[in-house]
Amino acid sequence: MVRGRNRVVVVSNRLPFVFHKDPDGSWRVEPGSGGLVSALLPVLRHRGGTWIGWPGTPGRSEELERTLAQTSESAGYTLQPVHLDAEEVHNFYHGFANEIIWPLFHDLQSLCNFDPTYWRVYCDVNRKFAQTIMESASNEDFIWVHDYHLMNVGAELRALRCRSKIGFFLHIPFPPVDLFVKLPWRAKLIDALLHFDLVGFQTLRDRRNFVQCVRALKSEIRFQGKGQIMVAHVGKREVRLGAFPISIDFNAFMRQAATPQIAARAKELHTLLPKRKLVLGIDRLDYTKGIPHRLNAFHNLFARYPKLRERLSLIQVVVPSREDIPEYGELKTTIEQLVGRINGEFVRPGGWVPIWYFYGSLTRSELLAYYRAADIALITPLRDGMNLVAKEYCASSIEEDCVLILSEFAGAATQLRSGALLVNPFDIEEVADTLKRACEMDIAERRARMRRLRRSIREYDIFWWVDSFMHAAFTRDLSDFPAPTTSIEELAESSLPF
Ligand code: G6P
Repeated sequence: MVRGRNRVVVVSNRLPFVFHKDPDGSWRVEPGSGGLVSALLPVLRHRGGTWIGWPGTPGRSEELERTLAQTSESAGYTLQPVHLDAEEVHNFYHGFANEIIWPLFHDLQSLCNFDPTYWRVYCDVNRKFAQTIMESASNEDFIWVHDYHLMNVGAELRALRCRSKIGFFLHIPFPPVDLFVKLPWRAKLIDALLHFDLVGFQTLRDRRNFVQCVRALKSEIRFQGKGQIMVAHVGKREVRLGAFPISIDFNAFMRQAATPQIAARAKELHTLLPKRKLVLGIDRLDYTKGIPHRLNAFHNLFARYPKLRERLSLIQVVVPSREDIPEYGELKTTIEQLVGRINGEFVRPGGWVPIWYFYGSLTRSELLAYYRAADIALITPLRDGMNLVAKEYCASSIEEDCVLILSEFAGAATQLRSGALLVNPFDIEEVADTLKRACEMDIAERRARMRRLRRSIREYDIFWWVDSFMHAAFTRDLSDFPAPTTSIEELAESSLPF
């Protein structure tokens, strides 16, 4: 654990609040959603410090500044905005981050738009973030930069003579070398990442991919070690490289899921959809989440096993995301057409509906009620950095009698493979057969599996994640790093080759 004197400066693309402008010109503030926010909020509240990020809306105004200051005060830590104009939002956020890095790092190179303007503005915006950090941080602060939007920030900070320790954590996967080398700015990006003191990945697979890219593009760099932390020797500097599977506040989910209100709402969902197993899918609208493949698997299930009709319903929640990017709008249409087609084919008028589709954001209590009501969670991304929905579902499943079906291409699969049923999301027959197996699984096996899952997630929770990242950044002697535990060993490269 890091010593108390180090303040933490968290830097991410988005601030952990969403700012909406109402028609009367006033600002409405809502807590942000998504893995990164839920992961870091408890940490900053606990330690104090600063969070630097974009308020999520182009431009700036006095009202917005006032709202930010008020939000800062009530949040208990400082919010420091980086304002972006509309062109920067287009080229940096929609462009480089979400039309290049996001698809490429999720193995979807065909969706990349390698526009050179995107790269130039990405560099400019990363420099802007670095300048804001320099204005807010002192040399004793630990600067913790997050995710693919800000991979150049370490290099920009060093160019500004920043002497603080700087860590970087990549929340999304790091792609294999044969995909990464397609990136026109591949060597520059690797150089930039090697300016951080510690680079953290979700899994050993991601770190292995990164190391192979460094070997391919920077043959002079030497590596040492191969455990949870390894060291790259970059000139006279040492860069630590580690795998830190992100997690959740297990106890908070468990506690909140156990409240009588959530139990009552979960029961109500079962009453509304009686005599059947509820299968739950919850995803941000994103082509990496494999939603159409999942719907096709459902179709395949009912076509091949007619006896399962009326015994299962899928509740598919899709949370709106990145609506300005054309692929996302097209994906929404595809999903809605598929839901319509499958329901049209199998629905029993006045009775069973195979798929209940909901497009919108859920409140925390609705989310927990869905988790508690679901007999099976079907989480089948085509590629995912970690997938915290899988962990949240297990933490909220306090009866311990439900089943997690998980894609083997989610980062969470290595840690959760001893309790979850792993599937290849591209193999719709396998997913359908696994759903049938989950549906027929006896209670003893369900309990044993769910207990294993919950034990691992409880032990390696969000506080473990933060402590282990900080420890890796600060410990002088790497042999002092905690001995590998069973679950960490489970992350070994040999466990899942993908
Ligand atoms: C992923 C990324 C996060 C991002 C979130 C929501 O989880 O790793 O960095 O904040 O998606 O996406 P958005 O584009 O709305 O920030």
